[in-house]
Amino acid sequence: MQLFLDTASVTEIRTMWEIGILDGVTTNPTLVSKEGRKFEELIREICAIGIPSVSAEVVATDVEGMLKEGRRLREIHPAIYVKIPMTPAGLQATKTLAKEGTRVNMTLVFSANQALLAAKVGAAYVSPFIGRLDDQGQVGMDLVREIVPIFRNYRYATKVLVASVRHPIHVLEAATAGADIATMPFAVMEKLPLHPLTDLGLARFLKDWEKVPKG
Ligand code: E4P
Repeated sequence: MQLFLDTASVTEIRTMWEIGILDGVTTNPTLVSKEGRKFEELIREICAIGIPSVSAEVVATDVEGMLKEGRRLREIHPAIYVKIPMTPAGLQATKTLAKEGTRVNMTLVFSANQALLAAKVGAAYVSPFIGRLDDQGQVGMDLVREIVPIFRNYRYATKVLVASVRHPIHVLEAATAGADIATMPFAVMEKLPLHPLTDLGLARFLKDWEKVPKG
């Protein structure tokens, strides 16, 4: 399973990249707006780190506008995945971009039928937003449990990218559901390697090591 950071912060991306557990990055207009930087310049810097998959989102809502932005974004770097919202116009734009060889991440997906349509038009990734469904009182991960077997039934190559992850249990559930990717905030990823028993065990080993005769 691949682990992505859901951020536009170069500092956060570099930190996880150096540890060696990062497979990709997803950004969105909200995350980009927090950085106070020019969009394309920021995306270029993220790609230059060497991240193999970087999702950058279009803001146009009509087909022509999405195609124009998508074509421009894909030229930035070979690691770019163009993020397109799940709308009828988004599906149309995705079909054209996919035919041209552009990898599309269909975003804002909240139902299995939407995911099915994204796969049919050739999206590379489909992004179900789990946390936002949880916020509505719906079990978000149930959506992932529906999408994974649908894609398997029809052998769609589209990868299931679990988005809007809020805590480590979402990552665990995404993995057991057979999702291909989970994208998460830095605050979630930094928790994944931690366990109090690991800290306790290490402290005990180091303490006992002091009793071993040296020299
Ligand atoms: C995914 O690609 C989105 O950027 C993201 O996961 C949205 O998460 P949020 O619901 O925490 O804003």
